[in-house]
Amino acid sequence: MSVIIAPSILAADFGNLQRDCEMVNNSKSDWFHLDIMDGVFVPNISYGMPIINKINEVATKTLDVHLMIIDPERYIETFKNVGADILTVHYEACPHLHRTIQHIKSKGIKAGVALNPHTPVNVLDEIISDLDLVLIMSVNPGFGGQKFIESSVQKVSKLKKLIESKNSDVIIEIDGGVNLETGKKLAEAGASALVAGSFVFKSDSPTETIEKLKQL
Ligand code: DX5
Ligand code: ZN
Repeated sequence: MSVIIAPSILAADFGNLQRDCEMVNNSKSDWFHLDIMDGVFVPNISYGMPIINKINEVATKTLDVHLMIIDPERYIETFKNVGADILTVHYEACPHLHRTIQHIKSKGIKAGVALNPHTPVNVLDEIISDLDLVLIMSVNPGFGGQKFIESSVQKVSKLKKLIESKNSDVIIEIDGGVNLETGKKLAEAGASALVAGSFVFKSDSPTETIEKLKQL
């Protein structure tokens, strides 16, 4: 099965948001990746509901929402209303992770957990069977265009082993510094979904770049 490609809208041209969303619709990509930052959990603020509503209006593909916010539980209903199909919260932002995951699933949304680069995969041992997706951050969250942390490839292998030991079919998604070179290593290590921001939107032909990623 080919890898799922999720272009990160953070790197799109917000002056031409509709055009860039239509490019994603018409490309070989699978999902829209939406990065929500609160300026507290991460040192940056991205975009909020008016923009997400617009993306939802135009997008014809799965909305994969990555919440880099504290107490994400407060916003689960809101994100359901703006069309989130997958809602991923950070392990580091959720003291009651099991409750938060059940809350997301009770709304009929797929639930994911993201791990910062310093967080080991084994913290998910007791919850992995409840998840639809694990997101491994291969940069420190907060900004697009950062350098890929090489040890993330090994982390994917470790996560794959953990998932296999539980006979689960959780999606392994990677976010940060993905390009053809890092993407290939990640796909070989067991990644099933790749997020790519700058590499797609700053390229001469985003559509062709997506096609190349899709062939990994
Ligand atoms: C970083 C975000 C990423 C970001 C990826 O906090 O979660 O989704 O947009 O950007 P690139 O692909 O440019 O590293
Ligand atoms: Zn992201």
